[in-house]
Amino acid sequence: MDMLQVFHMNKGQGESSYAQNCTVQKKIMLLAKSYLKEAIQGYLKNGYPESMVIADLGCSSGPTALEAVSDIIEAVVATCPKHLSPKFMVFLNDLPKNDFNGVFASFYDFQEKWRKQKGDDFGPCFIAGLPGSFYGRLLPPNGLHFIHSSSSLHWLSQVPQGLNEDDQPRILNKGNVYISRTSTMEVVMAYKQQFRNDFLTFLKCRASEMISSGRMVLTFVGRNSVEPTSLQDSYPWDFISHCLATMVSEGLIEEEKLDSFNVPYYAPCLEEIKELVDEESSFSGHIFEAVEVEWDGGINLNDESSSLMMPTKGERIAKMHRAVAESMLQHYFGADLMDDFFHRYAQVLDDYLIQNPNSKSICLVVSLIKN
Ligand SMILES: C[S@@+](CC[C@H](N)C(=O)[O-])C[C@H]1O[C@@H](n2cnc3c(N)ncnc32)[C@H](O)[C@@H]1O
Repeated sequence: MDMLQVFHMNKGQGESSYAQNCTVQKKIMLLAKSYLKEAIQGYLKNGYPESMVIADLGCSSGPTALEAVSDIIEAVVATCPKHLSPKFMVFLNDLPKNDFNGVFASFYDFQEKWRKQKGDDFGPCFIAGLPGSFYGRLLPPNGLHFIHSSSSLHWLSQVPQGLNEDDQPRILNKGNVYISRTSTMEVVMAYKQQFRNDFLTFLKCRASEMISSGRMVLTFVGRNSVEPTSLQDSYPWDFISHCLATMVSEGLIEEEKLDSFNVPYYAPCLEEIKELVDEESSFSGHIFEAVEVEWDGGINLNDESSSLMMPTKGERIAKMHRAVAESMLQHYFGADLMDDFFHRYAQVLDDYLIQNPNSKSICLVVSLIKN
């Protein structure tokens, strides 16, 4: 599967869109706000630049696309003396199939909101879209002051070598779509190696693009245990494998299709990240933290939501995952199976959540300083 050609969050504003179903990612941005503020304040201790060049990598579309930019600019404006507020150049990066039109359509509202709130304190903010993979160079050298990436770096550049449908003379990860308890060491190592290659490339590219003492704040899905096959960390993918396997048993999906499908995703632990940052050596690790986030973003249901018409927790989580992963699953298994598949997935989640109502995933927060 070619990530550049296939992968995108569900577009537009419809029921299955990313814009309507990014509750967890919003929660993660909220959680990262204090880290962004800390990094901006740290950077501005060196002086107040006339202009600041910022990049948000994996911006997607919908309400979160300009949210991080707002948070960063807010932190800069709050830190600089009024008359020294810089002008901003912001690059919004994502894969080419991202709904950039949706992002640009919300730019006017974003600018107006800022003008109203901040008046003259808000210097000009120039925004440009930057289509392409962040596992390659995106910008010329030595120009970026600040890089942010939220909920994106757990996506690999490709399905790990040896696990792609085309290069599997023998099936390596039968019945699984990601590392699971039954995966062999060969599968685990293929995933670890792909993440290693990708993350080192990411650091190297960003190091070339950033100015010395520039800052980078990253959040992405991770795991707590050093052991990649630990039970808890691969739950959602295990459930996805289970639902696909049921559809195989009912003759809706060919068995070989499921056996040869593996997701281009990896949830690392903090130890792996620290090692790779040290090895690449262009950045000083400033903050490395693992934070728990509820599967549904921990939204509070109000009174109205107890109505029978309201979706269950499993349904809500399934919709969130659909908004993110549907392009990939649809490409592989066909668009006509998606409603059925996500209905089953919601039920499996609900069954699990009855016993484990407070299931959490791990979000890694990494704040780095360019040497
Ligand atoms: C779950 S969304 C997060 C979007 C936004 N940052 C947020 O927090 O709501 C992940 C985004 O990363 C993008 N992405 C994944 N791999 C990428 C890559 N190699 N280069 C650029 N963007 C990528 C996806 O297209 C998607 O828009």
